[in-house]
Amino acid sequence: MASSAYIFDAYGTLFDIHAAARKHQDRCGGHYRLMSNIWRAKQLEYSWVLTLAGAHEDFWTLTERALDFAMHSVGLVDKKLRADLLAAYWTLDCYHEVPGVLASLKKRGVKLAILSNGSRAMLEAAVKNAKIADLLDDIFSVEDVRLFKPARQTYEIVTRAYGVEPRTISFQSSNRWDIAGATSFGFRTVWINRYKTPNEYEDMEPSLVLPTLEGL
Ligand code: LAC
Repeated sequence: MASSAYIFDAYGTLFDIHAAARKHQDRCGGHYRLMSNIWRAKQLEYSWVLTLAGAHEDFWTLTERALDFAMHSVGLVDKKLRADLLAAYWTLDCYHEVPGVLASLKKRGVKLAILSNGSRAMLEAAVKNAKIADLLDDIFSVEDVRLFKPARQTYEIVTRAYGVEPRTISFQSSNRWDIAGATSFGFRTVWINRYKTPNEYEDMEPSLVLPTLEGL
């Protein structure tokens, strides 16, 4: 069955989450990749813990707290570097194939949107920087339900907005945990396994695995 809409996760799927640390790698004392991985892992951990604990903070606040933990973990105390890394997170590079893939899907007449844990302000800034705003019909932020993915209510933002059944939606994410949640919700899912990581959540399998968004 043809999908009525293609919904994209943002961070790691459209936007390169390691671009901020890479941009300032010379100032990260050789630890940029480790620091960036810890930054991302803590950002996600905070989102899951808050949702499970029945609490909420916006994703930007979690991104700041996660960076503080990551910098401390690798012995970085440079306040100017902290400010520069956070500033860079608002203008992360998109992966090279993103504009072309979105443009060709748009020609097929399907709806294109983002569903992300990111705050609306973060997402709008990233989309504007990547010059893909005109290709997207909607930007859905989990802010509207004050829960983070993979809570079912977050995926429901899309089906409610479009008045469609989950199985009519094609959901793309590079995050295997996000694919597990979206599959469990009922979306058709495409795992974009950019870094050839091993499969996980084998009882919540994607419909398709691709190395990049090309091939959608
Ligand atoms: C997103 C992050 C968590 O929702 O990948 O965009």
